[in-house]
Amino acid sequence: MKKIDISSNINGIKLTSCIMNASGVLCCTEKELSEIMMSSSGAVVTKSCTMIPREGNLEPRYFKWNMGSINSMGLPNLGIDFYLNFLEKKKPKKPFFLSISGLSIEENYQLIRKANLSPNINAIELNLSCPNLIEKKDQGLLGYDFYKTSDFLDNLFKFYKKPLGVKLPPYFEDFHIKKMAFILNQFPICFVTCINSLPNGLFIDINHETTVIHPKKGFGGIGGSIIKPFALANIRKFYIYLRKDISIIGCGGICSGKDVFEHILCGASAVQVGTQFFQEGIQVFDRLKKEFISILRKKNYFSIENFKGQLNVI
Ligand code: DHB
Repeated sequence: MKKIDISSNINGIKLTSCIMNASGVLCCTEKELSEIMMSSSGAVVTKSCTMIPREGNLEPRYFKWNMGSINSMGLPNLGIDFYLNFLEKKKPKKPFFLSISGLSIEENYQLIRKANLSPNINAIELNLSCPNLIEKKDQGLLGYDFYKTSDFLDNLFKFYKKPLGVKLPPYFEDFHIKKMAFILNQFPICFVTCINSLPNGLFIDINHETTVIHPKKGFGGIGGSIIKPFALANIRKFYIYLRKDISIIGCGGICSGKDVFEHILCGASAVQVGTQFFQEGIQVFDRLKKEFISILRKKNYFSIENFKGQLNVI
């Protein structure tokens, strides 16, 4: 039987499996990161970090129902030094993506400067889409401000020379995706991860007539299977509009091998698993891999290059 290869190449970064964890879920502490390191996840992505450790928002701040999840975590993380030290100490044998999410553009520059000095980072995943910060309640997501994003990237590529990807919020208009792709195409971006959670969802507990999470009056980011159609649409459109050397990492609604297949068919080179990882734990990577390989076998495909981006449209 011919071997099925689910490896991927993110703009030169080689993954033995195209399935990895999404930033934010079970990737904050040493124990959690070590577990991902030893799993069949194709890479390790850290929780988005800040300069100083943060406790995050008050609980309850995460809730899951059958179709998805809502969260308002508020960036609980151990601070960039912890993640850089983890990397130096453990030297993972798979790609290590440091996710960063400064509370301000200035803090993002500081984080990127620090990461620039670390020899073992494969890439930064710059989070332009963190929706849950109480401190930033009067500022929008960076990824929704096209002018600021462009200016920010312009400045950071003056000094940062390593691989960098951006994690984007979902866009709902073709025009916005075209515009963001036009901006990203002007920079040496390595990959885009789309999509982050849908910001500003609200989930209600009718028994208590209240919200299920408490920070920010119950509003939070929506993830899980309910957001998959938005993820697929963003992947597809970015695949069409981005420079061909910018890889896409799909994120949003990966629960089965079929979901992995759909993301890649739309143009993703790899996928990230968030809500389902939280639900199922570390064995999710083995299960998804098995289900994905079984679909490829049935279709007579031997690598993701056989169908990546090749969605049929009539
Ligand atoms: C958090 C949520 C996000 O969707 C994100 O991209 C970064 C951080 C959070 O609330 O911790």
